[in-house]
Amino acid sequence: MISKNTLINLAELEELVERSLDKTTLEPSHFDYYRGGAADELTLKRNCQAFAEISIWPRMLVDISKRDMSLSLAGQAIDMPILIAPTAFQALAHSQGELATAAAAKKLNTIMTLSTLSNHDIEEVAKAGNHLWYQLYVYKDRAITKDLVARAEANNYKALVVTVDSPVLGRRERDIRNQFTLPPGLRAANLEKFALGNIKKNQNDNNKQDSDLASYIASLYDTSLTWKDLEWIISLTKLPVLVKGVLRGDDAIKAVAAGVKGIIVSNHGGRQLDTTISTIEALPGITAALEKGNSSNSYREVEVLLDGGIRRGTDILKALAMGAKAVMIGRPVLWGLALSGQSGVEAVLNLLKSEFDLAMALSGCGNLAAITSDLISREK
Ligand SMILES: Cc1cc2nc3c(=O)[nH]c(=O)nc-3n(C[C@H](O)[C@H](O)[C@H](O)COP(=O)(O)O)c2cc1C
Repeated sequence: MISKNTLINLAELEELVERSLDKTTLEPSHFDYYRGGAADELTLKRNCQAFAEISIWPRMLVDISKRDMSLSLAGQAIDMPILIAPTAFQALAHSQGELATAAAAKKLNTIMTLSTLSNHDIEEVAKAGNHLWYQLYVYKDRAITKDLVARAEANNYKALVVTVDSPVLGRRERDIRNQFTLPPGLRAANLEKFALGNIKKNQNDNNKQDSDLASYIASLYDTSLTWKDLEWIISLTKLPVLVKGVLRGDDAIKAVAAGVKGIIVSNHGGRQLDTTISTIEALPGITAALEKGNSSNSYREVEVLLDGGIRRGTDILKALAMGAKAVMIGRPVLWGLALSGQSGVEAVLNLLKSEFDLAMALSGCGNLAAITSDLISREK
């Protein structure tokens, strides 16, 4: 359903999906679940707007006849600094769900991060993908957490992404209004063996102020989690661990002290605490804190990634100029998936890749190392 003519840019893609819902498996309430943010959705908007407030100062007459955007991340050689962020319940968009996304990431030789709340399980997705990371939500029952980590490791996932911004679910009013729930037949597949795959809440619960997902998370996720527990998670695995959802420099320092190899600057796509700072505005505070602690190797080696509102190749250039090593994208992948399954996700990745290549070319950058901080300035 996506052709070269219909996919001109990623902002229009969301509108296209909305207009074409009747041709997809995505129901209106599920479209709302994907596109929505918390409360007034101010952070959701800020994430995109903040990129517009950054200017590029391009370099001229640089030989850009050969351009290279390949890199190594968490020890993996990939073709571009554009990764797939973990997003839950991808079978709402397409029956192949996470399998299609993993296959698209494999085709583009980049990394896909599988959510704990996926509809296809760790084992199935491992067969479809190549460079896979696993995103962990920590359940109160530590045996579940251990099991998920062990399965990711046994199935050749290359890194563990621990999401720390969601001890409880943000107030997503679209989902409350729609009483968001999974349709019959769809499950949180990784939790099936613990009989926790069904997110429907207790039928006696009449509290309509929560979606079923919010109730599920409130009853099962560990709200007592601290940096000490992160050390425990790191001790469970040989995989490099990245922490996702950090917005403050002092938290970045605590994360490195706990032993993480990477920090993903993220506000969960504006879905958790509304009115938080946008991720691109938070990035300088994180890189500055890490540079200050630079006397030890652990700080120097930590890889900083960013997600939230990346919709243009120039957004990627700006994030890299401000110190990110790579970016992740969430919603656009879901839109590609909804419209055309694997080929839709590939089209989204290819579009961003070619926009980023153009941004590199026009700003005089032949490779990622040339994308330095003097290339941009922030207005205001
Ligand atoms: C529908 C949806 C589901 C998500 N599910 C998860 C999840 O299961 N785990 C997680 O760490 N982040 C989750 N996220 C957050 C994304 O990983 C990412 O931080 C965010 O989507 C990036 O912003 P963007 O959508 O503007 O690219 C989800 C985001 C969306 C839109």
